[in-house]
Amino acid sequence: MAKSKTVFYCQSCGYESAKWLGKCPACNSWNTFAEEVITKQGSAKNEWRQESSSKQRQSKARTLDEIETAHDIRWNSGDQELNRVLGGGVVPGSLILIGGEPGIGKSTLMLQAGLRLKEQKVLYVSGEESEQQIKMRAERLNDSSPGFFILTETNTKNIFQVTESLSPSVVIIDSIQTLYSSQMESAAGSIGQVRQCAGELMRFAKETNTPVFLIGHITKDGMLAGPKVLEHMVDTVLQFEGDRHLAYRILRTTKNRFGSTSEIGIYEMLGTGLREVTNPSEILISQKDSNLSGITIGATIEGNRPLLIEIQSLVSPASYGTPQRTPTGFDQKRLNMLLAVLEKRCGFRMGVQDVFLNMAGGIRVEDPAIDLAVCISLISSLEEIPVSDKFCFAAEVGLGGELRAVNRIEQRISEAEKLGFGEIYISKYNQKAIGAVKSKIQVKAFGKLTEVFEDLFG
Ligand code: TYD
Ligand code: MG
Repeated sequence: MAKSKTVFYCQSCGYESAKWLGKCPACNSWNTFAEEVITKQGSAKNEWRQESSSKQRQSKARTLDEIETAHDIRWNSGDQELNRVLGGGVVPGSLILIGGEPGIGKSTLMLQAGLRLKEQKVLYVSGEESEQQIKMRAERLNDSSPGFFILTETNTKNIFQVTESLSPSVVIIDSIQTLYSSQMESAAGSIGQVRQCAGELMRFAKETNTPVFLIGHITKDGMLAGPKVLEHMVDTVLQFEGDRHLAYRILRTTKNRFGSTSEIGIYEMLGTGLREVTNPSEILISQKDSNLSGITIGATIEGNRPLLIEIQSLVSPASYGTPQRTPTGFDQKRLNMLLAVLEKRCGFRMGVQDVFLNMAGGIRVEDPAIDLAVCISLISSLEEIPVSDKFCFAAEVGLGGELRAVNRIEQRISEAEKLGFGEIYISKYNQKAIGAVKSKIQVKAFGKLTEVFEDLFG
């Protein structure tokens, strides 16, 4: 029988220690150490090709010129939004982690992408659902592929036996928390196991040049359940988010060794699977009743895509206690700052009002160019004066109540024009940058928030 040894892992960052510690020296959290048993014979042992291949494979240093670039060998995942967030396609041999809350649609997304790869062999390893359940889901998606293989297995050793005989071009693991490696005696889902299994899969991916997608769960507070080390290990971390009760889902990159991290992919969850949303602005602007006050359209940019987003606000006198400030999809501190600017620089009595602010479509906006649209929306609601649905806004608001320039203004203007807006309000410091752009849309440039109010509300 193999001798076993125990180690202690920090459950929040994966720090390994030979003895129990009260405080983790790596992440400074308290009381997070848990004991896990690993089989001796070197804790770093892998199920993937146990007889270490290092003997056969000679390590050799190479110059950059000798190494093939990955650019032209990225391949199409069959899903345009997924390609976009990955930075233009799947890089062979990459390890990609997809995190998200339960029920958000991670399994659906990967199943759908896998089924679209008709010419490739795809191995979908599920530790969560039975073959029948996956089949039912595939029927719902109304798609099938001759090269799509399903394996319900949780032991990495058995998984590698299958990959050896099947040699798939893509492996999907649903989910990393259900896997276990016989190299460790701790339970599936524990830090040690997650780390060990991810390590084995990483070696498999790099040595066979096979892309591996790992689905990972998220804990209540939004962290990837499992150690932070998992995020360090993988090449790309994608976050699948959205309100479970709304149809829209956003796929966001939080780490990407092969591309930018500012890209997003947008999907709509239908009865027949996830639909890629190629023109997001259309869905983010609801059919609105133009007589409603408090609704404005902001021209933002997410990643490389211009997006026009509808902002709704409701400002009403606070009837008791401290007035409430409740933003959805917008930073609370930023909202407080804008309210202070409206109070101090523009003379509106916001301090006695309850303020509710909502970015339509369940999207989270961090682009400061949305500021102007937010301020206009608040004042429109406060004063009960509707803003024309032909107007949109793109400017940052400074602490002095001034309108500041924003980046990529040409792109914002042309998107607004494409969607048929008549006027766009921007900062006068941006006007220089746009120079002599000839467009059908009327560009109105102002230096101060108060000037915009004057122009809109008279
Ligand atoms: P699922 O992929 O199982 O989520 P996860 O793997 O992230 O836990 O998605 C589950 C939800 O998606 C479930 O509430 C049902 C819904 N759904 C649809 O609305 N349409 C569909 O075609 C499918 C397959 C699922
Ligand atoms: Mg699932």
